[in-house]
Amino acid sequence: AALTPAGRPLAGRHVLVTAGPTHEPIDPVRFIANRSSGRQGFAIADALARLGARVTLVAGPVTLPTPPGVTRIDVESARQMADAVQGALPADAAVMVAAVADWRVEAARQKVKKDGGAAPALTLVENPDILATVATGPDRPALVVGFAAETEHVIDHAIAKRARKRADWIVANDVSSDVFGGKANSVHLVTADGVESWERMAKEDVARGLAQRIADALQARP
Ligand code: CTP
Ligand code: CA
Repeated sequence: AALTPAGRPLAGRHVLVTAGPTHEPIDPVRFIANRSSGRQGFAIADALARLGARVTLVAGPVTLPTPPGVTRIDVESARQMADAVQGALPADAAVMVAAVADWRVEAARQKVKKDGGAAPALTLVENPDILATVATGPDRPALVVGFAAETEHVIDHAIAKRARKRADWIVANDVSSDVFGGKANSVHLVTADGVESWERMAKEDVARGLAQRIADALQARP
């Protein structure tokens, strides 16, 4: 059956999604990484595409299939993710779900060898904040959504993050329980209007709910 326009409220819209972890090389054979399966971000890309959006998914290293109809750009490091995101703009909305490593390593060109002496020290350098860069840049999408994984003071941290990063919305999730790699998520949607706490639900349902909210928001501001 033909899909009605009502079923595809994001038709003609471009939405950019980041998902997964980033890997930051230590040397050619080692890396440090953030914990993320990419499941929530991929589910959001899928839900947005189902509502008719053209979706660009910038994905860190994950083992997940590309959702149907989604354009996927694979990256490894935070700096590669930042470049891919800049290259994918402009967009009507950006949803930054990736667990970006906050620091990269001053990497060695050759494999670091055990030499019987002291363990090597890693020098860390702060990575660019992709969300803040997009939210304050010249190509700012009409709607910028960030995620915030927190282990305590979830809502307070999310409210502060929303202001600091100039995001329109922050989806805050409590990662003190078994979110990572799991199938369910409990989130709070923090907007200019306040905080909405959603019941714990499958990541696909979080994705569907968020995609519908994004469609509503973009319809309200053409
Ligand atoms: N983010 C990003 N680029 C970074 C770090 C974070 O785009 N270098 C985005 C994430 O994708 C997420 C949001 O910013 O949408 C919040 O990430 P989070 O790690 O919770 O925020 P931080 O500012 O890094 O704060 P924290 O010290 O709590 O890690
Ligand atoms: Ca961080």
